[in-house]
Amino acid sequence: MTTQVSPKRSRLDPEPMPRRDWLGLGALWAMAVSFLFATVGMMRLPKAAVLPSPSKKFRVALPETLAAGEPFVPPGRSVALFRDEEGVYAISTVCTHLGCIVKPAADGFECPCHGSRFAPDGEVRKGPAPKPLAWLKVSVSGSLVTIDEGTTVPQGTKVA
Ligand code: FES
Repeated sequence: MTTQVSPKRSRLDPEPMPRRDWLGLGALWAMAVSFLFATVGMMRLPKAAVLPSPSKKFRVALPETLAAGEPFVPPGRSVALFRDEEGVYAISTVCTHLGCIVKPAADGFECPCHGSRFAPDGEVRKGPAPKPLAWLKVSVSGSLVTIDEGTTVPQGTKVA
């Protein structure tokens, strides 16, 4: 009777890993990578994905050549600024019907969406707008005017 002696393996020549173990190891790595990506994705969730809206309070310099009763609309804002002998005032250009931006016209404001017309002081001349345009809080310091789009004031409020 002969006995078969298995060749002794050294540490430098380990036994080859079976294919089934390779597949298990691959699945384990795939799961670890998935958890890593999921964790990174969850850490990003609390951050806002959009830019914050611009502040409702802003400051502008009125043009020196602005005539009395002539509107000045700062770029990117929904406000018309006026200056006359009684002071400075701001009227919102957001239509009170459905929120379109009204355009200054020769005799006040007109809405391009549904045709509402407003007087120079914001009063409704022609519907469907139900309410006058809002007057906004302004404060003047030197040549700069600060407008608070979030605060309305009674119609006719002017700041000297
Ligand atoms: S939104 Fe201005 S008239 Fe409708």
